[in-house]
Amino acid sequence: MKFDKPATTNPIDALKVVGRPIPRIDGELKTTGRATYAYERRDAGLSYAYGYPVGAAISKGLIRSMDVEDAKRAPGVLSIVTTLDIGERKKGEYNTAKLFGGREVQHYHQAIALVVAETFEQARAAASLIKVDYDEQTGSFDLADAMKSAVKPDEEEKPDTAYGDFEGGYERASVKHDAFYTTPDQSHAAMEPHASVASWDGDALSLWTSSQMIDWWREDLATFLDMDKEKIGLMSPFIGGGFGGKLFLRADAVLAALGARATGRAVKVTLPRPMIINNTTHRPATIQRIRIGATEDGRIQAIAHESWSGDLEGGKPETAVNQTRLLYAGADRMSAMRLATLDLGEGNAMRAPGEAPGMMALEIAIDEMAEKLGLDPVEFRIINDTQVDPEHPERPFSHRDLIGCLRVGAERFGWTGKAKPGSRREGNWLIGTGVAAAFRDNLLVPSGARVRLTSEGRVIVETDMTDIGTGSYTIIAQTAAEMMGLTVDEVEVRLGDSSFPISAGSGGQFGANCSTAGVYAACVKLREAVAQTLGFNSDEVVFEGGKVRAGNRSVQLSEAAGTEGLTGEDTMEWGDLSKTHQQSTFGAHFVEVAVDVYTGECRVRRMLAVCAAGRILNPITARSQVIGAMTMGVGGALSEELAVDTNRGFFVNHDLAGYEVAVHADIPHQDVIFLDETDPMSSPMKAKGVGELGLCGVPAAIANAVYNATGVRVRDYPVTLDKLIGDLPDVA
Ligand code: MOS
Repeated sequence: MKFDKPATTNPIDALKVVGRPIPRIDGELKTTGRATYAYERRDAGLSYAYGYPVGAAISKGLIRSMDVEDAKRAPGVLSIVTTLDIGERKKGEYNTAKLFGGREVQHYHQAIALVVAETFEQARAAASLIKVDYDEQTGSFDLADAMKSAVKPDEEEKPDTAYGDFEGGYERASVKHDAFYTTPDQSHAAMEPHASVASWDGDALSLWTSSQMIDWWREDLATFLDMDKEKIGLMSPFIGGGFGGKLFLRADAVLAALGARATGRAVKVTLPRPMIINNTTHRPATIQRIRIGATEDGRIQAIAHESWSGDLEGGKPETAVNQTRLLYAGADRMSAMRLATLDLGEGNAMRAPGEAPGMMALEIAIDEMAEKLGLDPVEFRIINDTQVDPEHPERPFSHRDLIGCLRVGAERFGWTGKAKPGSRREGNWLIGTGVAAAFRDNLLVPSGARVRLTSEGRVIVETDMTDIGTGSYTIIAQTAAEMMGLTVDEVEVRLGDSSFPISAGSGGQFGANCSTAGVYAACVKLREAVAQTLGFNSDEVVFEGGKVRAGNRSVQLSEAAGTEGLTGEDTMEWGDLSKTHQQSTFGAHFVEVAVDVYTGECRVRRMLAVCAAGRILNPITARSQVIGAMTMGVGGALSEELAVDTNRGFFVNHDLAGYEVAVHADIPHQDVIFLDETDPMSSPMKAKGVGELGLCGVPAAIANAVYNATGVRVRDYPVTLDKLIGDLPDVA
């Protein structure tokens, strides 16, 4: 099905099942420990061995030789696969860094060997006996240094935009702001480590893994192994968080496949926690410069956003200027991204790539500008709302209610307007409030599904869509139930298997809208098949209460299915609606913090998010997404930073003891409001996504609240107490 005209009324609008707060259908499996994650997979008849990976101990250079003799003789060892044995491999489409193979070391902890043994402990012990002789080369590890040699990325990255006359407009503006902001390297830090279990049956490979994108992985794994994609079965039914860290094929998968081939056994490989951060991808650090010029009454005349980031040779920029091209009005504008070469592992997508770090800077700058103008930061944002793409005014937003988010949020939060910094105190605590807008694009990716009506009148949905903790199982069941006139209990959802139709996968917050739209398309086919079988005119049929009815005829679905059952399969494809109309999601974050006047310790006391993101398919799962994202934003604001050893070239704090993420228990009160809206341009579901929106803007709202509490403006994340303590108000 091609979606190329705005949606009109369709069966989803009945909202008998879709839009309802249905607890997640996989919840019981997870809370009782019966959901089988990749590393836990165990099939009768297979004999399992354990692989332990070895990571490079240098950040750039060549491997001269590897001595594996001692390791080979260690107890329980079955096989050792080294990167020298494997040789250079063709790189897949989706990774910048190679995963394994050949002499070259591109970054610290790049995989260079796998030891396979009878037990995990034996494999780990033997791995420590491998000796490697390196030819180490000098790398580039410091963004602030490398910034000077940064270059314009490929035109396909759309590095530069310019409209009107920024320099002139800025010059003429009566109130101006010009500042630099920095965001650090960050890690996804998912609960479930990267893990794979591989087994070969002749030339066919089965791989149980933890992947957000089944088909991308399968494609790249086939390239790496130089084999037919169809011979790979890739399964990822449950995933313990991804955040972008599992978008692309990872080393555990290729190592498990190679280890299984070397031993003839089923081989389990997980990346040990301390290896994950340097071995996999990270959100690249940025240096950003923002200039804003406005009229005295607060209208933005000129706005410029420049961003510098680094990546391995051949990598991509962090697109931190994205939202500034779309979020606020202003006739004279420019944006630019520059890319430096850094040898710190592969920089890549992490939850809301681009917007998350971009909003960290932009939304502080907006706060600073509001203060200079003497305006309430909520009002300043409202004054500069735009209903059209400011770079292409002929292109309206499909639906945009940023103003609604700000107004509803201000009222519900008890926002008091422009509060004087450092003016509220409770004992030793300085109290502050902050606000930021949230913005994230709505992306449309083709998504397929197959739905089968069984002779019992139940529906089975199959799609390679994944559920990374987001609620995909549940919203897909709701969609099929709504379309076929059933309850959620009468629908079985099977996900994350490469034998199912290719879906959008879980990424870019497009999973919810796109995957359910794919299920919608497949259900339309199934409804037609049912109608045709019964000789009904398909325009008139109503699916309701387990029956299908047309005119005064009504038939049980089970009867329509016959003994064989009926199947509908289709892929949702997207027309030009995202070209003619800018599709984005909007929100507003309000935060209250308390900062200890003696120590600078910062506590987030309460948070409120208001989201305008199209139809909310399930308020429970959507709320969980936003609450989780807000929590991640607290980490982004206050603690998350990969510390770079700029001499040796690696992230020093490479485990969850050193890389500190926030958890729910850190924040006593969090709330989410969804504005009641639909976006008929987004899909027949009229939905968009919230999983990344919930993060965008949060760190800035917190930084703004800390400023409001203390009068100390920190423009370099994270906002840690060492950046506050020297400038805290004198203790009375
Ligand atoms: Mo998201 S960073 O596309 O998983």
